[in-house]
Amino acid sequence: MASEETLIVDCDTGIDDALALLYLLGDPGVRIGAVTTVFGNTDPGTAALNTLRVLELVGRSDIPVAVGAEHNRRGSRHLAPDVHGADGLGNTDLPAPRTSPIAEPAAELIVRMARENPGTVHLLAVGPLTNLAAALQLEPELPRLVKHVTIMGGAMLHPGNVTPVAEANISNDPEAARIVLRAGWPVTLVPLDATMTEAITEEQRRRLAEFGSPVTTFTAAILDLYLDFYAQHAFGERKAACHDPLAAAIAVGDVEPLLAPVVPVDVETGDGPARGMTIADLRGQYRGFPESGAAAVRVVLETDRAFGDRLVDRLCSDVPNLGAA
Ligand code: BDR
Ligand code: CA
Repeated sequence: MASEETLIVDCDTGIDDALALLYLLGDPGVRIGAVTTVFGNTDPGTAALNTLRVLELVGRSDIPVAVGAEHNRRGSRHLAPDVHGADGLGNTDLPAPRTSPIAEPAAELIVRMARENPGTVHLLAVGPLTNLAAALQLEPELPRLVKHVTIMGGAMLHPGNVTPVAEANISNDPEAARIVLRAGWPVTLVPLDATMTEAITEEQRRRLAEFGSPVTTFTAAILDLYLDFYAQHAFGERKAACHDPLAAAIAVGDVEPLLAPVVPVDVETGDGPARGMTIADLRGQYRGFPESGAAAVRVVLETDRAFGDRLVDRLCSDVPNLGAA
């Protein structure tokens, strides 16, 4: 990660969101300026409490957590208790955190921090894009103030995980996704094409449990339900996709994508069966219809499929924050 860079993580914490935060917190070279929460895996208040729990676990309650959008731009929402548990953390029913979210709303915090740190804020969005779209509405200059935006979302050649064609973060607020992609700032999109090939397995979960630090005991516990869900609905065995931690690792430059073309990407916002679909123009010919308004986005299509081990190595490391056993 560039030394002058400050991350704002916008998330719907969530099991893999928690893993993403811990992955980042395990690197003393990564500066997280704030975490903002949004509805998605759970409601934004619960996501904030889960974030505070994670921060407390690693002694980083100094990082402010701001609550954001309760629902999408149409006033609806779809939560995912079947994937992430009723509490968002795999039904582990952890005690309430000692700290509370700040009063400032998420979108306002994003705008304020971007104004205070022009050119150095990197937005890492791993939930629905409602907060980012709201921030763009509050400050039209935001694309000039922010250094980069990395988003976990979309499905290009891979099927969707909510509908046959739509991925959860985009499907939860397609209108916001379109606003964010078209805002004219540099965007890296990390879709299911990459994240579904980067798995964490039952064997790796056992390694975390056996390591026995507070962080690895926590991660092994929250992964239990997540692995069940993916075994039943996706992989037929106990392993799960590393969606949000992979996007985090790409954002800070730990994972160098093997294939990441810069291509026009648009989002379907109609009400038909393709609602929430991300359409990347991956054709070698006939490419780019300037009149379509689609934004040029760096789309990560392939990584080296070794991230599960890197994630577990990081969580089992002796970085002081992660509290080795
Ligand atoms: C995305 O949706 C959420 O359930 C995960 O946390 C991830 O951000 C995957 O589609
Ligand atoms: Ca997420």
